[in-house]
Amino acid sequence: MSVTALIPAAGRGTRIGGARPKQFLPLAGVPMLARTLAVFQSSDDIDAIVVVVPAGEETLCRDDIVARYGVSKATRIVPGGASRQASVAAGLRALGADAAIVVIHDAARPFVTAGLIRRVLAAAESSGAAIAALPVVDTLKRRSPDGRGLVTIEREGLWAAQTPQAFRRDLIVEACARAAVDGFLGTDDASLVERLGHPVTLVEGDPSNLKITGAGDLRVAEDFVAVGEPGR
Ligand code: CTP
Ligand code: MG
Repeated sequence: MSVTALIPAAGRGTRIGGARPKQFLPLAGVPMLARTLAVFQSSDDIDAIVVVVPAGEETLCRDDIVARYGVSKATRIVPGGASRQASVAAGLRALGADAAIVVIHDAARPFVTAGLIRRVLAAAESSGAAIAALPVVDTLKRRSPDGRGLVTIEREGLWAAQTPQAFRRDLIVEACARAAVDGFLGTDDASLVERLGHPVTLVEGDPSNLKITGAGDLRVAEDFVAVGEPGR
């Protein structure tokens, strides 16, 4: 079965507030997006890569990242949309005819490993949908409605979703179309599939598979790179 990686890299990185969107910022000299793409390029499980970038950045991505770092599987570079979900939808429209399985992975998680990709793909090939996720270990609090007290949320059974998230192509395409019709905006891809009533397999993720969200995460990521990339 042909597997395509879809990499949403069309965000603005507003929480980091850098001069450039975070996926283009260097981590020890190598752009975050180039690091993420390199993992998929070197994975034997991946046949093709679709990269979704901010509109107008396609040429820069092709020249300064895809060509420069030898990401030959990234044959399609397409403009994204205003939300992550719209960017994923744009990437799905750019899939090649032979793509049977799609594995979606945020450019902002450069420490993903080929091993985690393989485990999520294996689960998706049997069940149709699978995501990497970690059991929640922190005690969760919510402010009470009056804003003065705290309420503790029962942690048992809660998982924090990561990417990669992998799906049969027809399933994620249908889920995306249904979400668009319903005006549903999810914070991950699996939430769109869950709405169809389709089961999603949980695969134990990797604590090293950090999501770079704020400036503090960038510093942690620099430290990770300095000590040798974890999990490889
Ligand atoms: N993303 C995207 N298109 C968007 C928004 C986000 O492709 N319209 C991508 C980001 O580039 C990132 C991933 O989705 O790889 C996860 O999004 P997030 O971490 O929220 O990144 P940003 O949206 O760029 O950051 P922020 O929310 O701080 O602006
Ligand atoms: Mg965002």
